[in-house]
Amino acid sequence: MGLEIRPERASDFPAVRRVVAAAFGSDTEADLVERIRASDEYRPELSFVAADSGEVVGHVMIDGCMVRGEGGEREIVMLSPLAVAPDRQRSGAGTALIEHALAAADRAGEPLVVLEGSPDYYGARGFEFAGDHGLSLPLPDWAPRAAAQVALLSTYNPDDVTLRGRVVYPPSFDGLG
Ligand SMILES: CC(C)(COP(=O)(O)OP(=O)(O)OC[C@H]1O[C@@H](n2cnc3c(N)ncnc32)[C@H](O)[C@@H]1OP(=O)(O)O)[C@@H](O)C(=O)NCCC(=O)NCCS
Repeated sequence: MGLEIRPERASDFPAVRRVVAAAFGSDTEADLVERIRASDEYRPELSFVAADSGEVVGHVMIDGCMVRGEGGEREIVMLSPLAVAPDRQRSGAGTALIEHALAAADRAGEPLVVLEGSPDYYGARGFEFAGDHGLSLPLPDWAPRAAAQVALLSTYNPDDVTLRGRVVYPPSFDGLG
């Protein structure tokens, strides 16, 4: 059977925890997933698993965050975290999860999705340097500036000043990085 991308359900949560911890080699991101689910920023309709014959092999979340700038403060969304089980990597699951999550965010009317990650990986999957669109992310000192990325969706309006400024991660991300 092929790979299925579908919204996560409560019955997936233990398997998601195992996949995320194995992918990152640490419990930190698995704990982050659970903190996001318990927070106001959780968007269950934008959180997906990749399943193969019923087995969860990957996971992605798009969750709420804020952007603060000249236009005031407003909520946008960010993609984090993304994980594919180590023995299932390099078979397109990560790409399929990103595509599915971006399409769902677009249908939900989100103008853009930000993230922090490899420009090589995400740049080939719809993302661009966020700085080129007036957005900055609170990157850790070790991260290259190019790690701040944004995917512009169909309702994005470059004249909308409320979409420019500093991205502020929600409290679930405190202490990470
Ligand atoms: C990053 C990750 C989600 C990719 O998932 P995946 O299912 O293997 O991705 P795909 O099969 O769609 O794409 C694989 C391609 O991405 C490339 N790739 C994977 N991680 C990459 C990275 N950090 N930087 C650049 N390229 C990367 C691989 O080299 C591969 O390219 P190739 O097949 O031409 O060699 C997966 O490797 C993972 O879970 N990593 C650990 C957790 C992580 O770093 N998550 C992302 C940050 S939130």
